[in-house]
Amino acid sequence: MKTILEVITIEMQKAFESAGVDASFAKVTLSNRPDLCEYQCNGALAAAKTCKKAPIVIANAVVEKLQSCRYFSEAVAVNPGFINLKAAPSLVAKYLNQMAVSENLGVEKEEKPKTIMIDYGGPNVAKPLHVGHLRSAIIGESIKRTARFKGNKVIADIHMGDWGYQMGLIITELEKRQPELPYFDENYKGEYPERAPFTIEELEEIYPTASAYAREHDEYREKALYATYLLQNGKRGYRALWSHIMKVSVRDLKKNYEQLNVEFDLWKGEADVQKYIPGMVAMLKEKEYARYDEGALVVDVQEEGDKKEVPPCMILKSDGAALYDTTDLATLLEREELYKPDEVIYVVDKRQELHFLQVFRCARKTGIVGERANLKFLGFGTMNGKDGKPFKTREGGIMRLENLIREIDEEMYKKIMDNRTVSEEEALSTAKIVGLAALKYGDLSNQASKDYVFDVDRFTSFEGNTGPYILYTIVRIKSILNKYQEMNGTLDGLVILEPSGDFEKALTLEAAKFNDVIDTVYEESAPHKNCAYIYDLANAFNKFYHETKILTEEDETKRLGYIALLKLVKEILETCIDLLGFEAPERM
Ligand code: ARG
Repeated sequence: MKTILEVITIEMQKAFESAGVDASFAKVTLSNRPDLCEYQCNGALAAAKTCKKAPIVIANAVVEKLQSCRYFSEAVAVNPGFINLKAAPSLVAKYLNQMAVSENLGVEKEEKPKTIMIDYGGPNVAKPLHVGHLRSAIIGESIKRTARFKGNKVIADIHMGDWGYQMGLIITELEKRQPELPYFDENYKGEYPERAPFTIEELEEIYPTASAYAREHDEYREKALYATYLLQNGKRGYRALWSHIMKVSVRDLKKNYEQLNVEFDLWKGEADVQKYIPGMVAMLKEKEYARYDEGALVVDVQEEGDKKEVPPCMILKSDGAALYDTTDLATLLEREELYKPDEVIYVVDKRQELHFLQVFRCARKTGIVGERANLKFLGFGTMNGKDGKPFKTREGGIMRLENLIREIDEEMYKKIMDNRTVSEEEALSTAKIVGLAALKYGDLSNQASKDYVFDVDRFTSFEGNTGPYILYTIVRIKSILNKYQEMNGTLDGLVILEPSGDFEKALTLEAAKFNDVIDTVYEESAPHKNCAYIYDLANAFNKFYHETKILTEEDETKRLGYIALLKLVKEILETCIDLLGFEAPERM
């Protein structure tokens, strides 16, 4: 179905036309002065030049045509030529009732669904997940869910960092500790054991130990670099160890992401695309896109009009090793070949912006990516501590994701127990659900590109612009609806009435924005606008709730109308938080 702004714009177009003004000027937007009006149209100002008339004259003419339109309870022209509108209660009620019976609450699917790949998460295998990876996972997941809701085919790819120096380090450390293993025996021809020679706990200890040791000992570091080289060039025993590292780590990663309600379709990584590199390099040389620069193979990507220097894309180091640029180019090649995406969205730390600019330009210039594919870099800012510096543990180390989640859950548990509405056992599971909302909403409510301050106290509060506040509102509505059903009321076939009170009108207007908001969130890849919306909607609901007798309303028609409205508001809120990637508990 149409969004409410579309519905109103169509009426406005008719009025513009009958006033002799081109309909293309008749765009209606939400009011930015809600104290004066609900919707506004600035088209008269824009049309003044073409019409050779003063904007207010045009606005007056249009408003006159609107007087007979039943969609508006008020349409006035104000200087210098704005048209201020208030929607008729009947229009809003009709719109909401239609939403309530429509699939996806009336959100239209893309007419031509796209294949969209989202590259997010990006953990580095065998290194601990840290909070830097958290933002990518949370934002990417929400963008994925929203794009899917709009009817696109969306492929979520975790794109693991699984082919680097960390693997050489782990292999080197393992050889130091267990030289008797067959993986290190040059003459070993048999099958390698099926079981990994380490557990995830051991692996988690091995990497930091090896990494610290290598920093202090040149010989060890050289060995690790050489092990990386041998692995990348197919040394059998190392490949077998690599497979073990992958299996053990991926199992653990899956657990971590599951905890975050984050789900990937593809568990691919840098290693998967190594096979594309030789062919790609040959092509780049043959078609003379690449040149040698001090022994390294590079592709120039500087363009006319660049204000800053954009260094060349690095394809091969002078020793022949592939780099981060190379892997990302090869990944694009693979994506073109296997999935033919219309769009690839990268949700990565904004400090990697230059890397992606180079890769995108190189991919276009060399035909690795065709005309069709739109490449988008969605850079996010840093999560800082209260001191304004990148978030650390109390001891000053990098905060691991697991610990962060535990900290939030514990804080949430305390707060839920303080409320004393649920048993201890239920409080534990509820704390997990609400904790995740606190974490995700705390992140997503900020514009992704901005840095933000991670504040456990604020994020876990039941008041203010927080995840728990939104969930609390949903739980409140659920409890009213449950009570109503316990009193033998049915939720089927109820009709939302024309709003009469101010708070009721405000609530219905917020609810009617849903489709417009979702479209904007989708088009702009802007989950923070989803958060801003549900905060407004929750506020509108709570004001209405405090001013209105709902279940005790004596007029039955009215009472049932309220219930119908509550049911819709609940569905909107639940849909929105699902698109953000979290859910509401039954009680809290
Ligand atoms: N593993 C990388 C990191 O931790 C992020 C990967 C981002 N995605 C990509 N296609 N390069 O920085």
